[in-house]
Amino acid sequence: MTSDQPIILAIESSCDDTSAAILKGKQVLSNVVATQEIHKEFGGVVPELASRAHQKNIIPVVDAALKKACIDKADIDGIAFTSGPGLLGSLLVGVSFAKSFSMALGVPLMEVNHMEAHILAHLIQDGSPTPEFPFLCLTVSGGHTQLVVVSSAFEMEVIGETIDDAAGEAFDKVAKIMGLPYPGGPLIDKYAKLGDPNAFSFPHPKVGKLEFSFSGLKTAVLYFLQKEVKQNPNFVAERLNDICASVQKTILDILFKKIDNAVIATGIKRVAIAGGVSANSELRSRLQAQSTKGRAVFNPAFEYCTDNAAMIGVAGYHKYIAKMFVDITITANARMKI
Ligand code: KG4
Ligand code: ZN
Repeated sequence: MTSDQPIILAIESSCDDTSAAILKGKQVLSNVVATQEIHKEFGGVVPELASRAHQKNIIPVVDAALKKACIDKADIDGIAFTSGPGLLGSLLVGVSFAKSFSMALGVPLMEVNHMEAHILAHLIQDGSPTPEFPFLCLTVSGGHTQLVVVSSAFEMEVIGETIDDAAGEAFDKVAKIMGLPYPGGPLIDKYAKLGDPNAFSFPHPKVGKLEFSFSGLKTAVLYFLQKEVKQNPNFVAERLNDICASVQKTILDILFKKIDNAVIATGIKRVAIAGGVSANSELRSRLQAQSTKGRAVFNPAFEYCTDNAAMIGVAGYHKYIAKMFVDITITANARMKI
């Protein structure tokens, strides 16, 4: 170890962002993210193109992270990497890079679950308040929607999840129906700010108290728009802001109802959100407003919501301290669970 705190290199390549970060303990020295623009024209992530882009980006991104942090590769004490869940071809690029680099440097390897890392982003030391254990976390990303009881950095229990689409997928699919490019979530967020959230109403799913379902919403929006466009071909363009605000309100009402149910079921009043959808401005302000309900609420820093390697680094740091290392026989696991 070159200092009192270990220097961790972290690698994330589970979907369409190639990212590398350098952490000193729980502090982020650099966090470089190369977002793959190529998928925009296809309306979604194309796995084969994603793995090729990771292959192209990985070395320049790691190099940039080292330079930005003013760290020499000889100073690295351990390497953390995402082993799953995600796209297999994408994961393999990060896993293979991490294994080879750890062998070359003679430093230990820490494997990290991507969804656990989204949650552990709350433990990054950046001056913002850190939730005490146990806390409840709603993880909302492009592939997952889960309610998790987080008892320690290593003990997490999923108490509810989606039975079909994830919340991020709901944003992206509705956006696609309206002809918006991928990923549609940030665009719906942007247009919703200018619209009336009560302009249109969409049904809530009938599922268990801690379960989610978003595939019905996508279909409801599709049928609603088909009907309206028949009468007015310019309906989507004319009412885009109102549609976005109404769809967003429906998704957020569902999420907050489930948070309420989870608080009642567990008695835990510390509530955090994580994952790409936690970047949503309305979700963040509605969560903030819940502090008046006697809850302690935690929004992740904006840069740690969508996929990034800093969150992999802080998860890896905890494993480094606990000496939870893996050897180079480790491989990617596309369906890894919390
Ligand atoms: O966590 P993430 O970067 O990747 C996965 O692990 O899936 O999440 C990506 C998801 C996408 O569905 C994207 O549309 C959504 O997060 N997202 C948002 C916002 N920013 C990203 N959804 C709603 N509002 C946003 N501001
Ligand atoms: Zn993610």
